[in-house]
Amino acid sequence: MDARFHRLPAMSTAPARRVERLPSDKGYVPVYTTAVVAQPWQDYSAADHATWGALYRRQRELLVGRACDEFLAAQDAMGMDAQHIPRFEQLNEALHTATGWRIVGVEGLLPELDFFEHLAHRRFPVTWWIRRPDQIDYIAEPDLFHDLFGHVPLLMDPVFANYMQAYGRGGLKAHGLGAEALQRLTRLYWYTVEFGLIATPAGLRIYGAGIVSSKGESLHALASAAPNRIGFDLERIMCTRYRIDSFQKSYFVIDGFEQLMAATGADFSPIYARLSGRADIPAGELREGDTVLQRGSGEGWRDDGDV
Ligand code: PHE
Ligand code: FE
Repeated sequence: MDARFHRLPAMSTAPARRVERLPSDKGYVPVYTTAVVAQPWQDYSAADHATWGALYRRQRELLVGRACDEFLAAQDAMGMDAQHIPRFEQLNEALHTATGWRIVGVEGLLPELDFFEHLAHRRFPVTWWIRRPDQIDYIAEPDLFHDLFGHVPLLMDPVFANYMQAYGRGGLKAHGLGAEALQRLTRLYWYTVEFGLIATPAGLRIYGAGIVSSKGESLHALASAAPNRIGFDLERIMCTRYRIDSFQKSYFVIDGFEQLMAATGADFSPIYARLSGRADIPAGELREGDTVLQRGSGEGWRDDGDV
C-alpha cells in the first residue's frame, strides 16, 4: 500500500458531530477534531437554512462596495445564495474546475498539522455546522458561515488559490522548525487571510475572511478612525501580535494578490532565523518604517488582550 495513504487518516469519512470549543475556567478550550465528514445536508433544520439566509443577505448587502470585486464575483460564480445552505459537492464542481481546490467537511478547528496538510493538497476544511440563531452576531469559533462564506470564495481566484496552497506547505515546514516559526507564520495568516485589506483603484476593500463574515468588523475595518491601516510588510507582520476577542487594532493593506504572492514566495527559513528572539510589536503600535495609510485614534482600545 502507498505509504502516504497511512499519512491521511483524516480522509476517512466519519459521522458528523457538532463540536464547539468548551467553556472552562480558563476561557474556551479548543476541542481539536481531525475527521473529514460528509456534509449531512439532509439534516440541516429549517432554522439552520434561515440562519444562513439571514447572514448571507445581511453581509452581501453590506459588502457591495466594501469587499473586493473578486470576492463578490466568486460567490456568484460558485452559486452561493441566500436560499439555503450550499451543498459542498455542488460548490466543488465550480471550485475544482476553476482552481483545483475542493471543500472538505470537518467538525471544527483542526490541529495545525492537519490543517496545513489539507491546504498543501488544495483542500479547504469547512466546519459543517452553522451557529444557532442567538449566535448570529458573534460566535467564538469558526462555523459554517465563517468558513464557507468567508474563506471559500477567494479560492476561486487563481493567485489567491496558489497563495493558500503555498501557505499550507509553508506551515508544514514551519511546524518542523518549531513554535517560534509557527507563530510568525500564523501572524501572516491572521493579517492576510483573516483580516487583510486590499487597495484598489476604487478605494480600500476587504478580502479577509474574519472581516467579511462579521457585520461589525466589516464596518469597523474600513470606516472606523480607531485602527491603524498599514502597508503590507512581511517581516513587520511576523513580529506583530493580534487580537482574538476584539476588532483588530491594526490592519495591513496589500496592493493586490500578486504582491502578496511575490512577497511570500521566498523561503522563510532565513527570515525565521534572522527574526529569532526579536521583540514582539503590540497589536496597536506603529513603528518607524511603517507605511502608515491611517494612524489609528485608538479610541475604545483595551490595553490587555493581545495574543
Ligand atoms: N515561502 C514560505 C516559506 O518558505 C511559504 C509561504 C508561501 C507562506 C506563501 C505563506 C504564503 O515558508
Ligand atoms: Fe478563518
